[in-house]
Amino acid sequence: MRFDLILATLAWLDLSHAKIDRQNIVSQYNPIRTFSSNSTPLQVGNGDFAFGVDVTGLQTFNPFATLSSWGWHNFSLPVVTGQSSIADFNGLNWWTHGRLVNYNQPNPAIPLISNWLIQNPQRINLGRVGFSFGEASGSILESNLTGKTQTLDLYTGTITSTFKVYGSKVTVKTIADPDSDTVSLQIESDLIAAAKLGLFFDYPYSDVLKFDYPFVGVWNNASLHSTSMQQGGKSWARIQHDIGTTTYYTHVNWTGQALINGPLPNSHRYLLQQNTLGTSTWDITINFSPSPLAPLSKDSKSIVQSSKRWWESYWKTGAFISLPSSIPAAKELQRRIITSQYLLAVNCAGKDPPQESGLVNNGWYGKFHMEMVVWHLGHWVRWGKSSLMSRSIPGVYQRFLSSSLARARDQGYKGAKWGKMSDSTGRSAPGEINSLLIWQQVHPMYFAEMLYREGTSRSTLMRWDEILTRTAEYMVSYAWWNSSTGVFDLGPPMYPVSENTNPNSTINPAFELAYWRFGLGVASLWKTRQGLPVPEAWTHVLKNLAPLPVINGTYPIYEGLDSMWKDPVTVTDHPAMLGISGLLPPSRHVNLTILADTAKRVGEVWNFKNLFGWDFPMLAMNAVRLGWRQKAVDYLLDQNFAFDDAGYPIGGPRVPTPYFPGSGGLLLAIAMIEGGWEGDEGGKWPEGWRVESEGFGVGM
Ligand SMILES: *[C@@H]1O[C@H](CO)[C@@H](O)[C@H](O)[C@H]1NC(C)=O
Ligand SMILES: *[C@@H]1O[C@H](CO)[C@@H](O)[C@H](O)[C@H]1NC(C)=O
Ligand SMILES: *[C@@H]1O[C@H](CO)[C@@H](O)[C@H](O)[C@H]1NC(C)=O
Ligand SMILES: *[C@@H]1O[C@H](CO)[C@@H](O)[C@H](O)[C@H]1NC(C)=O
Ligand SMILES: *[C@@H]1O[C@H](CO)[C@@H](O)[C@H](O)[C@H]1NC(C)=O
Ligand SMILES: *[C@@H]1O[C@H](CO)[C@@H](O)[C@H](O)[C@H]1NC(C)=O
Ligand SMILES: *[C@@H]1O[C@H](CO)[C@@H](O)[C@H](O)[C@H]1NC(C)=O
Ligand SMILES: *[C@@H]1O[C@H](CO)[C@@H](O)[C@H](O)[C@H]1NC(C)=O
Repeated sequence: MRFDLILATLAWLDLSHAKIDRQNIVSQYNPIRTFSSNSTPLQVGNGDFAFGVDVTGLQTFNPFATLSSWGWHNFSLPVVTGQSSIADFNGLNWWTHGRLVNYNQPNPAIPLISNWLIQNPQRINLGRVGFSFGEASGSILESNLTGKTQTLDLYTGTITSTFKVYGSKVTVKTIADPDSDTVSLQIESDLIAAAKLGLFFDYPYSDVLKFDYPFVGVWNNASLHSTSMQQGGKSWARIQHDIGTTTYYTHVNWTGQALINGPLPNSHRYLLQQNTLGTSTWDITINFSPSPLAPLSKDSKSIVQSSKRWWESYWKTGAFISLPSSIPAAKELQRRIITSQYLLAVNCAGKDPPQESGLVNNGWYGKFHMEMVVWHLGHWVRWGKSSLMSRSIPGVYQRFLSSSLARARDQGYKGAKWGKMSDSTGRSAPGEINSLLIWQQVHPMYFAEMLYREGTSRSTLMRWDEILTRTAEYMVSYAWWNSSTGVFDLGPPMYPVSENTNPNSTINPAFELAYWRFGLGVASLWKTRQGLPVPEAWTHVLKNLAPLPVINGTYPIYEGLDSMWKDPVTVTDHPAMLGISGLLPPSRHVNLTILADTAKRVGEVWNFKNLFGWDFPMLAMNAVRLGWRQKAVDYLLDQNFAFDDAGYPIGGPRVPTPYFPGSGGLLLAIAMIEGGWEGDEGGKWPEGWRVESEGFGVGM
């Protein structure tokens, strides 16, 4: 790769020359619903906080979640001797090139503490806010409401919901503050003053489920946790929720004089009822916070203004694309792009990397995966919105550096070994796959290189230097000198991207070898760019890394896996061999004939029903590199890569909905098709597609 020849371009966009009417296009894709979905909410949020609602604009009938970056909970530690503290845990020793290395895996001899470490902490659903309907509340079902209609205005981040109950119309606008964990409600109805329309607040206990969806938490066991209304005035209230050692507060403010009561018997339900004669409007702010102090938050009207400003600027800045609406496939792709842009800003733009299900529901106990970050966050850079990525990256690598240095040291390696399934403290959950997956190690190089190409700056170089250095040191010491072949091997034991091989016989997987080469290349260039010497050991490993494996003219998952194309078990997980040219930039180490033959083989024999969302963008990116324009678009619209009516990426047979790496991957692939890469001008759409775009930066 000739990184040194790249002239990085500034990814700024001069809006005075913008031609595309962005607002008009965005607004065409506003999700509209007339009944509650049983799988996905509509949401407002800000990347660190999101509030999911049913067709009433609140969580009235379906308890969709209120999730945040900070709301986590631990169950109490086991009380069995020898398993009652984290210090009691040790993993398993596996032979690794002639020595025993301890891996962070559940240990059958100490199952309780092993499980505790996997299941804790869990992300908690902060609470539920719904309409109550006066005396008859309990008997009002969604089917009792008539004239239901709900629109999410993507351009301002506003959900407007209307319905009729008791013959009267109710309208509510639901909006989130871009700057705090606050929801603003603006309700209009004659029922408010008649005491036939109020709000309820309710709180769940935490669940022990790995996947807790579509609703999060346990709602029927009030005795396991407690709430109290610590202060309640005529225009505000504060409710405290204690769940184990986690305590947080709901600060509610409202216009007019209202009464709040609760908790109702055997529950954590509170009722808020307006008590002002003749009023038909009601503005309410609901803030969730770990702090008991009322936030210096805005009132409902200023939240409306902030949300409008934030979203307008979100849509106006960075890249934008307009696909031909006369072609149905292009129109569907445009819908997926616009709704993905909205949903990723709400769910996947926080201080930590997002979980796969964002802030919609919980997967893997609410934790996030360090190998998924490129799919979740890489698109921000190519779409000229890297400030959203920089909320978490590289901060999370800086925060996790010392524990990652320790992780490598404990196994006898140099440098920093990044964890896998993580919570915000950086602790990685025990797991066979978790401890043996390696591709997450190279992601820092991927991000750093993307940012460098977006706009060369001394501060980018310095900011990333230590992270890349420690990462490269680990990668170099992990590569194992095989004296009989005279090359550096990766593994065994290890899991490749497709987590379905025997780790003890997995050696030199195609994707990981290509990624190691890319990463050590970037780390070396990073030194050169700063005028610093490249450590000799890095160059030595880079030059002598095993070549990409080839079997019968194709790239296999890993070296020696001769049976792979005939084995239904093998051709069913991530086809990451094709990531070597697509997700990764072109490289002289990749033979294009072999690459094309591999891609054809995948197209013929792979089990597409069993893929995970981001596999399709990965296949599309590979197809684009091969010049297969129609194929790339076909992959992005494959029937197994589906998005629901509101743009949520469907999980498929293997994971629940939503599965956001599919959305991030979609945007990354679109940026590559339209924006091109080094030496390629982009615009690689099928014949006859007239596409306009603005603001895509330099890709790789
Ligand atoms: C859960 O326990 C772990 C280990 O003691 C601790 O590091 C973490 O901060 C705790 N998290 C919460 C939310 O209590
Ligand atoms: C891999 O080898 C280790 C011993 O080094 C063994 O404990 C483990 O069970 C093996 N794993 C598999 C999946 O065969
Ligand atoms: C709500 O609908 C149910 C079933 O259709 C009906 O039995 C019930 O009386 C209705 N409730 C009210 C308050 O109208
Ligand atoms: C509530 O939790 C307790 C303690 O775990 C359990 O014994 C009880 O069965 C639960 N009740 C319900 C209704 O789930
Ligand atoms: C909400 O009520 C609290 C307590 O009275 C007050 O300190 C705060 O300023 C109020 N916030 C707004 C936005 O009205
Ligand atoms: C050296 O490489 C060969 C070919 O990849 C492999 O079969 C062999 O197991 C390696 N040697 C050791 C000791 O790992
Ligand atoms: C090699 O590829 C050819 C052509 O696709 C096929 O006929 C043959 O069975 C393959 N051999 C093996 C060992 O996979
Ligand atoms: C690429 O691989 C093909 C098929 O194995 C081979 O014929 C060709 O020489 C290779 N090309 C290069 C540039 O090595």
